[in-house]
Amino acid sequence: MGDVLGIGVSHYPPFSGNDADMANILRGRLKDPDIPAAAKDPAGWPVPMQTEWSTDNGAAAGTAHREAMLVGLRRVRQALDDFKPDFVVIWGDDQYENFKEDIVPAFCLHAYEDMRIHPWKHASASAMVGAKSQDQWGGGKPNVWGETAETSILVPGHPQGARHLASQLLLNEFDVAYAYKPLHHPGMAHAFLNAVLYLDYDRRGFPYPVVPFSINCYGRQVISYRGFISQWADRGRPLDPPSPSPRRCFDIGAAVARICRDSPWRVALLASSSWSHAFLVDKTWRMQPDVAADRALYQAMVAGDYPMWRNYSLEQVEESGQQELLNWFALAGAMDALKRRPTWSDFVETYVFNSSKVAAIFAPA
Ligand SMILES: [Fe+2]
Repeated sequence: MGDVLGIGVSHYPPFSGNDADMANILRGRLKDPDIPAAAKDPAGWPVPMQTEWSTDNGAAAGTAHREAMLVGLRRVRQALDDFKPDFVVIWGDDQYENFKEDIVPAFCLHAYEDMRIHPWKHASASAMVGAKSQDQWGGGKPNVWGETAETSILVPGHPQGARHLASQLLLNEFDVAYAYKPLHHPGMAHAFLNAVLYLDYDRRGFPYPVVPFSINCYGRQVISYRGFISQWADRGRPLDPPSPSPRRCFDIGAAVARICRDSPWRVALLASSSWSHAFLVDKTWRMQPDVAADRALYQAMVAGDYPMWRNYSLEQVEESGQQELLNWFALAGAMDALKRRPTWSDFVETYVFNSSKVAAIFAPA
């Protein structure tokens, strides 16, 4: 009989860079000529946002933000080490990295063998390589560890576990796609890779086999806006079909939890993403994440109010820039199925660093 550990972390791309660049997404919005000056004026921002921005444009707050994120990342890593999983299923989004115009699956299990990955040589645009091409970095994205384009890591796979999950989901009428090798992006898209890199922040190695489980979180904006930041003037492009609904993500997560519980393996289920993303929140001129909406979902998660999660609509997700939270809807469904509440969790509130960062552990009894 298997066992399950539930966990969640952020894969915020600027976390892999330097503190002084941590607010670069907001800096980009400040340069968008079609966002009104009033929205850009710090005097009109919420007080906590003004405090973070301060007189150094968020540089000192960037250091504090890293420290706050590290608390959760290190706790979650410890929970993983204590649990000793046979493999880790990561729910993550693909931001126009592995899946492009030729195919966009709602859900896809990646039944990969062990892979040698070059995190910085192959960093994609949505992993915040920078405005220009990778060539400007000589093929390697600068990073807080000082690693180079030649740096590589071995990420073990668990194709047997991935095949089992896909098989059981299909037999349970969840029509999931599966893949044995990457399509467009060498290695893993940043939602999966950053989770591994960040959970190994202290560079002790990450020995656990990984089963990426991609969810098309960006839905209507995955191809049309390449699942990433756009200029205000770009609004009005023809949109793509939607993502799967929060309820469908919740339900597939519940099915995954039951399958893993009844399997021979110890499985960690990891949601990888930040919550509301400022650059997707039109009602704040893309200047601020929807902290209130995130707080409401967080409180429901802590209280075990899973019906609130299951009844959340896709319209609410899109209005609050919570597209990537669909990864957490899968985790919420899984934990509901196992009747778990967080045994530890943390909400890192921020306004200038694009997104709320939640870390959570749902340990077995
Ligand atoms: Fe992402």
